[in-house]
Amino acid sequence: MNPFSYGAIVRGGHFYDRKEECAHLVKTLSGGNNVVLYAPRRFGKTSLVFKVIEQLEKQGFLCVYFDFMMVFSPESFVRLYTKTLSTKQSNLKKFAQIFAAAIKSIRPVLSFGMDGTPELSIDFANATINETVISQLLDMPETLADAGKRVIVFFDEFQEVERLNSVNFEGLLRSKVQQQRNTNYLFLGSKTHLLKELFNDKKRAFYNAASQMTIGPLPQQDTIKYLRKKFAESGITLNAIMAKYIISVASDIPHYIQLLAAETWQYMVNSRKLVTKKIIDDCAARMIAFKNDYYMELFDRQSQSQKQLLQALAMEGKNIFSTAYIRTHRLPSASTLQRAVKELFKEGIIEKANDEYFIADPFFKRFITSIY
Ligand SMILES: Nc1ncnc2c1ncn2[C@@H]1O[C@H](COP(=O)(O)OP(=O)(O)OP(=O)(O)O)[C@@H](O)[C@H]1O
Ligand SMILES: [Mg+2]
Repeated sequence: MNPFSYGAIVRGGHFYDRKEECAHLVKTLSGGNNVVLYAPRRFGKTSLVFKVIEQLEKQGFLCVYFDFMMVFSPESFVRLYTKTLSTKQSNLKKFAQIFAAAIKSIRPVLSFGMDGTPELSIDFANATINETVISQLLDMPETLADAGKRVIVFFDEFQEVERLNSVNFEGLLRSKVQQQRNTNYLFLGSKTHLLKELFNDKKRAFYNAASQMTIGPLPQQDTIKYLRKKFAESGITLNAIMAKYIISVASDIPHYIQLLAAETWQYMVNSRKLVTKKIIDDCAARMIAFKNDYYMELFDRQSQSQKQLLQALAMEGKNIFSTAYIRTHRLPSASTLQRAVKELFKEGIIEKANDEYFIADPFFKRFITSIY
């Protein structure tokens, strides 16, 4: 089986490093504080949070992980959040009773799955999902906290709460976060600029509501060691320079490192023993060829200034608003550039970390380089 894993939360032997970040989060949350964790896409936020949950659960905390990605309306939030809360309960019947008492306008329905396991769904009947319902539901974690049991709620892709503005979600949640004595929150997400707006803008509800934290790439030495060990276990030699080359082709982004390593391993496993630069390049080229149509279409639909900026970013991404950068890369005026940056951000095509802008998908970056 391929020893590399990508595209999903990684656990157990597939997860390495992040010890300090993990310890810091466990300490801060168990100490009764709230945290907002932001980092570009595919850096390993969710995997880190699952590690944190594992440790907090060992300490006796009740941990509730909820992903806002699937939320598109207040109703969908109510449905999904109720389900998430219920799966944390050993006694569903009791949960249904507590739920019914707390939220009068919605009826919990207990049924049994094919294999006899109890399941909870909710019947909205004619109820309108208004601020009252959302408020009562947001009180549930605190209600569930048994005497002495502390609850920690993890809200992933939290920037998507904007979809719930019609029911004053931000304001409601903010007041719960302040009031609840036995519940703490970790807010995480990848749209860094949106999250920062939520927590740093004086006019927004979450202003100063949580301490902020970010994660960077995994330390290179650890990644080199990890990659070499996994290849060695299959009898394949990957020297340190080639391990570093994989990291650089993947722009040092954890997800793409695993992806390229997996592809390389697959290509080599039955026939070759030594990883060379050519093999890595060929594997990267194959992956780009596979997505060629998509990349073409993606590039094609960008405006002229966005295309120019992407070409420039494929080379370098520091000080992009400086006159020197604009001149070297023959870019439009700074104001046009600002607009292009905003648009590319919104589409998730570019990201920013440590004051450096970069193309989120390193293979798209290679695609652009190969054409121009
Ligand atoms: N600590 C780690 N050890 C090994 N691989 C990791 C680690 N962290 C992340 N990865 C790799 O990165 C991939 C993405 O991880 P994860 O889904 O946790 O990131 P994310 O930041 O939550 O991404 P998204 O922005 O898409 O939600 C994983 O599938 C794995 O391949
Ligand atoms: Mg994630």
